[in-house]
Amino acid sequence: KRLAVFASGGGSNFRAIHDAIGNGKINGSIELVVSDKASCGATEFASSNGIPCVQYPDKEGGGEDKGLGRLMRALGDQHRVDYVLLAGYLKIVPKEVVRRFERGILNIHPALLPSFGGKGCYGMRVHEMVVESGVRFTGATVHFVNEKYDEGRIVAQACVPVYPADSAADVAARVLKSEHEMYPEVVAALCDGRLRWGEDGKPVVWTAL
Ligand code: GRF
Repeated sequence: KRLAVFASGGGSNFRAIHDAIGNGKINGSIELVVSDKASCGATEFASSNGIPCVQYPDKEGGGEDKGLGRLMRALGDQHRVDYVLLAGYLKIVPKEVVRRFERGILNIHPALLPSFGGKGCYGMRVHEMVVESGVRFTGATVHFVNEKYDEGRIVAQACVPVYPADSAADVAARVLKSEHEMYPEVVAALCDGRLRWGEDGKPVVWTAL
């Protein structure tokens, strides 16, 4: 399958997926990287691996639609993308993309949704809220993306402990490590058609290899 990765930051999840493709664990290829940043860890890794990048939103060079038309053409005719993977993309994904990839767009959120999710709850803020709340476990959630922020159908969750002496940065590092294991596994299942949607309101089930 042909994949597009959306990322704004370090791109460690992107790299984990890229590695899993290299190891033959994922039946797919990353055809395109989309970032709101002209340059970040993710775009640099893409460039050094010959993967094309598109900037979106592009306030300077994108014209009136901030580059939306260009993005849709890149995902469509140009790169014929099958699935979209959000991996630390910090901007709202345009509804045109969400509609075009219904049931074909995943996100990873660094907490156990529906807790610690929603508007304003992203990045390091999530882990600060986790530490402040006193919960003893947190983790990461892979979910399908719909038009409601952080509310798409949950696919997989990984759980990690929160220790009393932890800082938000300690928690973030532990969660990120669990993401690097879980996200590639889910992407492998997606590409192999091993994700099955339950009836309305029922969870997505998937079979491991
Ligand atoms: C991850 O914690 C992910 O859950 C969140 O943003 C972070 C991205 O990290 N959405 P990276 O850019 O993949 O290193």
